Amino acid sequence: MKKQGRQVLMGFFYLEKIFGKQRARKLRKKLDRSRLPKHVAIIMDGNGRWAQRRGLPRALGHRAGMESLRTVVELCLELGIQVLTVYAFSTENWKRPQEEVKLLMDLLHEYIQNELDELHHQGVQVRAVGRLNELPSRAWQEVVRAMKVTAANSKMTLNIALNYGGRGEIVDATRRIAELARKGKLHPEEITENLFQEHLYAADLPDPDLLIRPAGELRVSNFLLWQIAYTEFYFTRVNWPDFREEEFLLALISYQNRKRRFGGL
Ligand code: IPE
Ligand code: IPE
Ligand code: MG
Repeated sequence: MKKQGRQVLMGFFYLEKIFGKQRARKLRKKLDRSRLPKHVAIIMDGNGRWAQRRGLPRALGHRAGMESLRTVVELCLELGIQVLTVYAFSTENWKRPQEEVKLLMDLLHEYIQNELDELHHQGVQVRAVGRLNELPSRAWQEVVRAMKVTAANSKMTLNIALNYGGRGEIVDATRRIAELARKGKLHPEEITENLFQEHLYAADLPDPDLLIRPAGELRVSNFLLWQIAYTEFYFTRVNWPDFREEEFLLALISYQNRKRRFGGL
């Protein structure tokens, strides 16, 4: 009886996979490849809830989330989306239990160890934004290695927000500008939006066109505060580990149905 139950469940997953692929194929047809966002940002949220709902440890949710990241990077490469920024660890996430913080840092290390060769092979430039020097040295060194190895790649940029906070980024930019003013290299009148932007962590990247937040929360949780002034938002209740091809295509199609006005008509 137990065996039968397992077989029914396996059959269900198998069918779901086939139907999922079919749905994705239909969605692909709706996608206008000439009007894709240049920069997509994602708050990779809901790993814990995904695991809890299945009676699994949160760690497995974070692991399943890494698979979603792999899928989304592959899709960006295939579709020609130039920049993907993912929120992996916020400056507020240090408040979590020590074991979870350690696990997340270990997973970051593991992700780079496992993925770097393939990312490099595919022409992905890996970058990171945040207060990286405050990361545990093992994780930090791995991030630096990934950035060095892939520095000359130009097919796509995978920008990982690590120990990142939008307010912190604005404060850090302000400090740099204040330092220039203190040294007499800059007059306060010269501080414009453009100059300010040049002192952000990734000054050369365009602002995100689309910000995706899975897992049902309707907030930005201190992500890219400066850069999202005119970004389109897409929220879904689907948890990040379940956010795969179909979900990403749905987000892109939703984006394509918007009219961006930037304050104009
Ligand atoms: C996102 O998933 C991962 C990080 C914040 C690093 P969560 O761990 O926040 O998952 P939930 O929100 O508890 O479900
Ligand atoms: C945002 O998710 C940070 C990351 C996904 C890295 P959180 O789970 O930390 O956000 P809140 O606490 O629900 O706002
Ligand atoms: Mg969360």
